[in-house]
Amino acid sequence: MIDPHQEKILILDFGSQYTQLIARRIRELHVYCEIHPYLMSLEAIKAFAPRGIVLSGGPRSVYEPEAPLVGREVLELGVPVLGICYGLQLLNHVLGGKVAPAEAREYGRKTLHIKDHHDLLAGLAPTETVWMSHGDQVEALAPGFEVIAASDACLVAAVRDRARRIYGVQFHPEVQHTPNGKTVLANFLYTICGLQPLWTMQSFVAATTKNLKEKVGTEKVICALSGGVDSSVTAVLLHRAIGEQLTCIFVNNGLLRKGEAEKVVQLFREHYHLNLIYVDASASFLYLLAGVVDPEEKRRRIGREFIRVFAEEAKKLGKVKYLAQGTLYPDVIESVSFKGPSATIKTHHNVGGLPEVMPLELIEPLRELFKDEVREVGQELGLPEEMIWRHPFPGPGLAIRILGEVTPARLAVLREADAIVLEEMKAKGFYRQVWQAFAVLLPIKTVGVMGDERTYENVVALRVVDSTDAMTADWTRLPYDFLAHLANRLINEVKGVNRVVYDISSKPPSTIEWE
Ligand code: XMP
Repeated sequence: MIDPHQEKILILDFGSQYTQLIARRIRELHVYCEIHPYLMSLEAIKAFAPRGIVLSGGPRSVYEPEAPLVGREVLELGVPVLGICYGLQLLNHVLGGKVAPAEAREYGRKTLHIKDHHDLLAGLAPTETVWMSHGDQVEALAPGFEVIAASDACLVAAVRDRARRIYGVQFHPEVQHTPNGKTVLANFLYTICGLQPLWTMQSFVAATTKNLKEKVGTEKVICALSGGVDSSVTAVLLHRAIGEQLTCIFVNNGLLRKGEAEKVVQLFREHYHLNLIYVDASASFLYLLAGVVDPEEKRRRIGREFIRVFAEEAKKLGKVKYLAQGTLYPDVIESVSFKGPSATIKTHHNVGGLPEVMPLELIEPLRELFKDEVREVGQELGLPEEMIWRHPFPGPGLAIRILGEVTPARLAVLREADAIVLEEMKAKGFYRQVWQAFAVLLPIKTVGVMGDERTYENVVALRVVDSTDAMTADWTRLPYDFLAHLANRLINEVKGVNRVVYDISSKPPSTIEWE
């Protein structure tokens, strides 16, 4: 069996907002790569044994005091190097060239004029559109380098030193705005580094199944199943590897969407024949939420109760060694990556806290994967489309979409509204196009008229957003006719609702959820 990790690229992060995109593009080209802080030691780099090194962009200037740099020895390991934006400037600076502020910042779509089509820029047209974003530029090339492309404003837009196999581009091949950027990355990986496209989700599943089997041995593993993509894929992957030794616990906290609990139980028990413990703890969650209006307090109570219920069930299983979690690569990078100007706002809200209260070792089979790769693994494992493409749903569930107190009556209203929103989004083909779509129940009543009667009922807000990672989001420009149809259905079919509003706030400064 081929280990898909056997050939890998190291991405050294200098704090660019695009570093993760570089990694995603390289993975899409079927090469395994990891992002590490630029401070990674030479020994650690050698131990990682990369077949190529990519230097990311970054917000600083290479000539500033204390600018993040790597030493010459990293560039001269004999491993091919590709510097992107700041990375290109760094190469020049460290190897004896000169970088200085440009007269004007070059930003946006620019035309690249290609002078040499032999290696890095093979397969490109004589001119290409590329995305530029830099304030500095190379003024004098380091010895051994030659220019292979220029833009109108930047004479050194791509360089190479063929002998040392060191390359650099001033533009960003990793972003969508550079339409043929992927060709540039593919040239680097396949031609310059001589790599094979080994990284596929099929090979990942095969290798991971084998590793999990070896690691777990005859021990028992438990997994908290939420019905979301990450925990579902984790569970099915583990089940494939260790079968009966895995037990999943699914806690119904009473804050799930309509029909959700039944669907999860049916899929995992009846279809996958997984050991699944289903706990209906709705009553205790709702009891603890009575009278609580503060969002953070709701989250805390739900989190604590989840851990309590889960731990109680786990105890009944006897000796268990491992706890499986659906941690993904972006969560891993966030905790180790370059801590500098691009240090990001934490978006991972875990209901977790489990490892702290349970003396279990963690197993995180998806910790190398991006979300799109997890979906592919899900497909590989035969999970239904509906589950693979499910929108993110917060751990505290509908509780943070009911503003004010969470009561059974208000839950019933929101559940109905939510079901209609999802049904319509799916029926009209919008569901797969957006990041999230849901209803929010507001804590106010407004006056309406139905038939001849005056009503005084609830307001439902619709929240539909486009996003790629939930860090930023924009409200979706849904067609008015569709919104009108949806509002009609909500008001006519959900008892207790007489008004619908559409949320037109972007994130930031708003958030996706209302609480
Ligand atoms: P916000 O509202 O912060 O949400 O823009 C970003 C993403 O995170 C989800 N979210 C949560 N997920 N527990 C979760 O598991 C939470 O407490 C939580 N709060 C927000 C939200 O749905 C969006 O996808």
